[in-house]
Amino acid sequence: MIFFTILSALLFAALSNASPTSSQNFIVYSPHITSPKASTTWALGSTHNITWETSDIPHEKRGSNGLILLGYVGNGASEHLDIDHPLASSFPIEKGYVLVRMPKNTPCRNDYFIVLFGDSGNKSPKFRVTKH
Ligand SMILES: *[C@@H]1O[C@H](CO)[C@@H](O)[C@H](O)[C@H]1NC(C)=O
Repeated sequence: MIFFTILSALLFAALSNASPTSSQNFIVYSPHITSPKASTTWALGSTHNITWETSDIPHEKRGSNGLILLGYVGNGASEHLDIDHPLASSFPIEKGYVLVRMPKNTPCRNDYFIVLFGDSGNKSPKFRVTKH
C-alpha cells in the first residue's frame, strides 16, 4: 500500500514534533483491522466499534495515537479517502478499539472501507452503509 504509506508519512510529518532523525521514524506499524469485516453493514447515525490487533505493536509505538479515515472504492483508479472528516483521531493505538458514529449525511454505498493509521495505514475489507 504505497499510497497509504506516503499519505501517512505526510500526516506523520504534519502531526509530529519528533525530530526527523529520531529512531521512531524508522519503525513502521500497520495495525491489522478485525472489525469492520466484509459482511458488515453500518446504518447512518449508528455507532460502531472499530477493532484491531494490538499484540504486534512495536514497543516504540505503544504510546502513539491513531487516525481513522473513511474511503470508498468507486469506479476510478484512485481511492476516495475523506481526509477532511476523520471518523476518529487522537485515540491511543494501544487500546485496540475505538467507537465511531457514522455521520447521517454520509451517502449510502456498498464499497466503503476504513483506513486505520498507526503510522502506515491499513485498510479494512469493503463494507456497506445503508439508511437503516
Ligand atoms: C469494543 O471492542 C473492544 C474489543 O473487542 C471491547 O473490549 C469493548 O468493550 C467494545 N466496546 C463496546 C462499547 O462495545
